[in-house]
Amino acid sequence: SQYSQDELKTLVGQAALKYVAPGEIVGVGTGSTVNKFIDALATVKDSIPGAVSSSVASTERLKALGIKVLDANEVQRLAVYIDGADEIDGKGYMVKGGGAALTREKIVAALADRFVCIADESKRVDVLGAFPLPVEVIPMAAGQIARRFEALGGQSGIHAQIRMKDGAPLVTDNGQHILDVRGLKIADPLAFESEVNQWPGVVTVGVFAHQKAAVCLLGTARGVQTLE
Ligand code: A5P
Repeated sequence: SQYSQDELKTLVGQAALKYVAPGEIVGVGTGSTVNKFIDALATVKDSIPGAVSSSVASTERLKALGIKVLDANEVQRLAVYIDGADEIDGKGYMVKGGGAALTREKIVAALADRFVCIADESKRVDVLGAFPLPVEVIPMAAGQIARRFEALGGQSGIHAQIRMKDGAPLVTDNGQHILDVRGLKIADPLAFESEVNQWPGVVTVGVFAHQKAAVCLLGTARGVQTLE
């Protein structure tokens, strides 16, 4: 490709500016692709009242660039939420949470009329599940939730593991843990998300199907492709 992965992220981050309307508060996701979007957003910061952020990391970057960050409870709706993904399929269903920010991402996405996904083409898949599925859990429920995944009907070779950082379980912005679930093939993302949401102790499952992407700006060797 004529573009490196980093350049593809920059391209889609800049392309997302097209979805930011003057005078509108924008919902901002988390990750290395969104960081490029935040950098682009700084160039038009005087035209927007501010942003609602999905993580401590994004809040810090927004503030450092002089973009006002509003509390989610100050906002009733957002026109648009812009975020990356770990996987996205042909229907706009996604796996997210590689950066451990999935819970606040889903909350801010739920305020928005439209989810605009920005991603390089390595994220585009036919079936979700090759990327280990992040699930934020209440720590005391982690063991039983891991066993429920490992016993999922009709699938073998599923393995759920607590995400570690510096020798201890990673603690999310919300004070909880992350299970990474390997070996899944998520054939029906809507049903899967609904099912896992019922399990006690699950805070957020990293399947974004009920809040899928309305638009995906995909960075490819031929430039930015818009999938709607
Ligand atoms: C953060 O929790 C994730 O949902 C990110 O959106 C995802 O990991 C994409 O990050 P990159 O843009 O760094 O690949």
